[in-house]
Amino acid sequence: MKELTSQSLRSLYLDFFKERGHAVIPSASLIPENDPTVLFTTAGMHPLVPYLLGEKHPAGNRLTDVQKCVRTGDIDEVGDASHCTFFEMLGNWSLGDYFKEQMIPWSFEFLTSPDYLGIPVEDIAVTCFAGDDDCPRDDESANKWIECGIDPKHVFFLPKSGNWWGPAGTTGPCGPDTEMHIIRNHAEADKLGPYDFDKAPAGTFLEIWNDVFMQYNKTAEGKFEPLKQRNVDTGMGLERTLCILNGKDSVYETDIFEGAIAKIEQLTGLGYGQSEEVTRAFRVVLDHVRTATFMLGDTKGIVPSNTDQGYILRRIIRRAVRFGRGIGLPQGALNEVSKTIIAKYADVYPELAANAAKIEEELNREEAKFSKTLAQGLKEFEKVAASKSAGDKIDGVTTFHLYDTYGFPVEITQEMAREKGLGVDVEGYNAAFAEHQAKSRAGSEQKFACGLADHKEETTKLHTATHLLHAALKRVCGDDVNQKGSNITEERLRFDFNFPRKLTPEEVRAVEDLVNGEIAKDEPVVMKEMSLDEAKAEGFTGLFESKYGEKVKTYTIGDFSKEICGGPHVERTGVLGTFKIAKQENVSAGVKRIKAVLVK
Ligand code: ALA
Repeated sequence: MKELTSQSLRSLYLDFFKERGHAVIPSASLIPENDPTVLFTTAGMHPLVPYLLGEKHPAGNRLTDVQKCVRTGDIDEVGDASHCTFFEMLGNWSLGDYFKEQMIPWSFEFLTSPDYLGIPVEDIAVTCFAGDDDCPRDDESANKWIECGIDPKHVFFLPKSGNWWGPAGTTGPCGPDTEMHIIRNHAEADKLGPYDFDKAPAGTFLEIWNDVFMQYNKTAEGKFEPLKQRNVDTGMGLERTLCILNGKDSVYETDIFEGAIAKIEQLTGLGYGQSEEVTRAFRVVLDHVRTATFMLGDTKGIVPSNTDQGYILRRIIRRAVRFGRGIGLPQGALNEVSKTIIAKYADVYPELAANAAKIEEELNREEAKFSKTLAQGLKEFEKVAASKSAGDKIDGVTTFHLYDTYGFPVEITQEMAREKGLGVDVEGYNAAFAEHQAKSRAGSEQKFACGLADHKEETTKLHTATHLLHAALKRVCGDDVNQKGSNITEERLRFDFNFPRKLTPEEVRAVEDLVNGEIAKDEPVVMKEMSLDEAKAEGFTGLFESKYGEKVKTYTIGDFSKEICGGPHVERTGVLGTFKIAKQENVSAGVKRIKAVLVK
């Protein structure tokens, strides 16, 4: 097998498919667009769903990329040799072009040819779909593999649970897949019949690549409708493949983490691998700092908060702080480790370096916030734990107190409890949380910012008011002012923007007057669809994510505001009433927040 670095594997993969007519497209954001079913991009196919369903992709019908992905389902497992919350997925797609007859020979060539991965043919096993009422057994794939040279003894069949793939949400494009594995234990592999793949002891096989043959759309009713086109969607985990090719025991021992490990060793005086406990803590810090760095550094960067993506980020940073303290990492160390990550990925994901200042500020802030209460919270936890015996549960009110007063996300309390053989009454915690929310009337936060799900009259008005506010801020505070976040409920809008200080009362009035002036003019709000490049050229503001020329919606309000947005918006500004800034807040040194309302 070839010894490869992360960069040489990326290049090898992309070049292989480029030579076979694929356009190399950039990684999309980690934050999915207009998809309320998942919080993060979890696979390479995720940003491509509209094209898998039949929309035309501007780069053509053969694509390849390296996609940054986050999967946090197993976050508590991070610390072992294999789990990571962030990973890169190498992938290639046929959008209604070639199908399995072509993909399988390419997969075979890439895996076995000495020009590519050079894996011995006898070390490869494949699994194919076993067939059921929705879709027949995939003999085509099985036969193709055998034709290529895979030993028939190494071709296995699995039901939907093993050889069927669809996106993380429950609906969408899906189909049977064929997975490729490296055989690590031939003696065990040779004992298995064609339907026994799952019976092999752990470690017999290591999965390396997945080719999905997408021919169905799973509907909300659970039906499998044939798609307009037959697609191929493949995914190869970069870190995992690197680890297998280089004969490493863990993804943490690949070149990706070299600089970060050296940094933690320097800061703690400990050695990675010196004991199981130390190694586990190193891995938690390595993984979580990398994930936090990518979340904060994303083109659609998020910040720690108490809801949705922001909450996951908070939980990840706080778990890293907890494990970091355990090996003596001083305050501010997460940022030091993060810098090594930014440097490692500088050429592949330039957004990290571009957002380095924000990453540093937010990591340090969140670490400092949690550090203030961590020691005391741990003491409190120890006290609670000491009063329990094995098998007991920590009650909901206490767990909520640990969260509310000491900043311990419930999942961290659960993990600490597990370490002591205790449980947590999560239902009780949720009840205590809900009661607290009801009391503080904080329960009405909308889930998603440019709230495509919420078309109520009041929120629609506030969307339009947000555009007016954005444009007014640019006029009063300077053209460099840009939206950093937005959240709208029926009652108010919330708008975050980069600015070093709060607005003076005069500036507040000037902004209000400008917005109310546009409302008084009863300007039409005009929507037009165009490509991102056209929108850019015409001076629309908005997030210019590096994505291939998809159509975007642009909204123009008189000659006052030009913005890219998914909507919804009112037809004319006259219906908005009177705009009033209710509150200003400090989000961070460089980011301020305005809450504003529309008065009838
Ligand atoms: N979408 C497939 C996967 O993530 C390739 O495994």
